[in-house]
Amino acid sequence: MDIIKALEWRYAVKLFDPERKIPQESVDRLVEAVRLTPTSWGLQPFRLLVVEDAAIRSSLDGACYGQVQTGTSSHVFVFACRQDITVGGEFVENFFAETIKQQNMSPENAEKFRGIITGFLKSLSPEAQAVWEEKQAYIGLGNLMTVAAVEEIDACPMEGFVPKAVDEILGLSEKNLRPVLLCPVGYRHADDYYQNYKKIRVPTQDFVTVI
Ligand SMILES: Cc1cc2nc3c(=O)[nH]c(=O)nc-3n(C[C@H](O)[C@H](O)[C@H](O)COP(=O)(O)O)c2cc1C
Repeated sequence: MDIIKALEWRYAVKLFDPERKIPQESVDRLVEAVRLTPTSWGLQPFRLLVVEDAAIRSSLDGACYGQVQTGTSSHVFVFACRQDITVGGEFVENFFAETIKQQNMSPENAEKFRGIITGFLKSLSPEAQAVWEEKQAYIGLGNLMTVAAVEEIDACPMEGFVPKAVDEILGLSEKNLRPVLLCPVGYRHADDYYQNYKKIRVPTQDFVTVI
């Protein structure tokens, strides 16, 4: 589908058809769209969990204030930020080692690269770092939603959940992760009345300024 038509077609689904599953090949493409998402410094400070298990998806409804998108969807994509991004820590050191090796950096450039990123991370308070990490996950969510729409797969971006409850269901903190966003994907239910609503957006002339 044309990308603009796809963006007009998509909407935040409130009820998925629980009988319809996304083919594995499409799930893999959606995962790849998130994995290829650019992030600040390329650090990819979040990870993706794909919840296929029906019982776990249903239990997520309770953690989403009773919203039923998770339980009725085909798969739930969970964006979770890492909690182990520290200067000198294993995650950051592995990132340096892999990038320096794979990009075949000279020792001089490698030193500069380490210095710039280390300086950036040191400049962040813990709160600012948490926000910075979350911003990267939102870029991944944007890519996921756009690619899903182009593939005619429905989705619902979701911030409306209790992080502690999601953490308990998915056992995230033991993996050094914290949930930031959910995005159930699947196919809209014929009874989801939201598909009939007009899409509300600011008119272009009020939205964009050409200077
Ligand atoms: C980051 C983010 C979080 C959202 N959280 C929820 C949510 O928890 N539940 C829900 O039903 N919709 C949620 N939405 C959907 C928005 O309400 C919806 O995208 C917006 O009203 C525009 O409508 P449209 O996506 O149908 O065009 C969220 C959207 C975004 C981008």
